[in-house]
Amino acid sequence: MTHAIRIHRTGGPEVLQWEAVELPPPATGEVRLRHHAVGLNFIDTYHRSGLYPLTLPSGLGMEGAGVGEAVGDGVAELKVGDRVAYTSGPLDAYAEARNIEARHLVPLPDDISFEQGAAMMLQGITAQYLLHATYPVKAGETILVHAAAGGVGSILVQWAKLLGATVIGTVGNDDKAQRARALGCDHVIVYSRENFPERVRALTGGEGVAVVYDSVGRDTFLDSVACLRRRGTMVSYGNATGPVAAFDCALLHKAGSVYVTRPGLPDYIASRAELVERAAALFEVVRGGQVKIEILQRYALKDAAQAHRDLEARKTTGSTVLLP
Ligand SMILES: NC(=O)c1ccc[n+]([C@@H]2O[C@H](COP(=O)([O-])OP(=O)(O)OC[C@H]3O[C@@H](n4cnc5c(N)ncnc54)[C@H](OP(=O)(O)O)[C@@H]3O)[C@@H](O)[C@H]2O)c1
Repeated sequence: MTHAIRIHRTGGPEVLQWEAVELPPPATGEVRLRHHAVGLNFIDTYHRSGLYPLTLPSGLGMEGAGVGEAVGDGVAELKVGDRVAYTSGPLDAYAEARNIEARHLVPLPDDISFEQGAAMMLQGITAQYLLHATYPVKAGETILVHAAAGGVGSILVQWAKLLGATVIGTVGNDDKAQRARALGCDHVIVYSRENFPERVRALTGGEGVAVVYDSVGRDTFLDSVACLRRRGTMVSYGNATGPVAAFDCALLHKAGSVYVTRPGLPDYIASRAELVERAAALFEVVRGGQVKIEILQRYALKDAAQAHRDLEARKTTGSTVLLP
């Protein structure tokens, strides 16, 4: 037996239940993992609320780090006692222990803690693919990052600075503005009270930015498109305020022949080779100290409901882990 957070219906944080669950021996190709830390991500709230539909009842959580406790047949590359982290596979990360196919696991370097591993696999690999594959940011370009003090946002800002970009960040309040500046933002806009497209035009001499990384969704989409330079790229990668509404394609022409993409992590780590390559790139900048993974909230795993409340109330900054 182990304990896990499960949901039997979708809804608010109150649907998260701490339950005793059966954990069979790992099947062929699987590893039983004892979690030392579990990552909290905004997508967990979409799964819980029903925005991203699941078959119920279901576990929750996409990211964790821990130690292999048992290995099934056919697992050659991992052994009992190995430190590993992951961000793919079935949604069972909110658990003290779980079984998971070995192909999802990445060995965790000794100088990266379990908490860091759990906090950065999903958010960090997302930042990696957004900056290097979705729209490869080049030195000297000016870019806009929404929710710059948040989980993915904090990593995007630091990594974009490393690539030589000028970074404009938006944040919801003044405390977050301070944090965004400390992370390296060249300019910070408090978009809860400032008109961000006007500020972006002013900051770029009227030209607009090469790319907008927008995780806020419904409330910012059109204004974000209005921040782009001619043939700029709108990367709509999240829905913190709800899904983006349908829009007239002619808008992209009027905005300067701009591009729009709506990427998702699974399509950028679809093969084992891609997962390993992106994780290695992330480990390199974290171990080198160029990108810091700041864990600014910790909750007991069984208190995941409170973590969800705080995340949705915009009370968190940086990364958050749940501790079994
Ligand atoms: N497509 C992908 O591959 C992918 C992968 C990972 C994450 N994501 C997306 O990236 C986003 C960030 O994820 P995260 O886990 O790092 O969360 P986070 O950024 O730490 O938290 C969300 C932030 O969004 C901002 N926000 C603006 N309006 C909000 C509202 N009405 N309710 C809640 N938050 C609001 C808040 O920052 P301010 O107060 O500063 O506005 C809040 O802190 C999410 O949309 C997530 O779905 C997408």
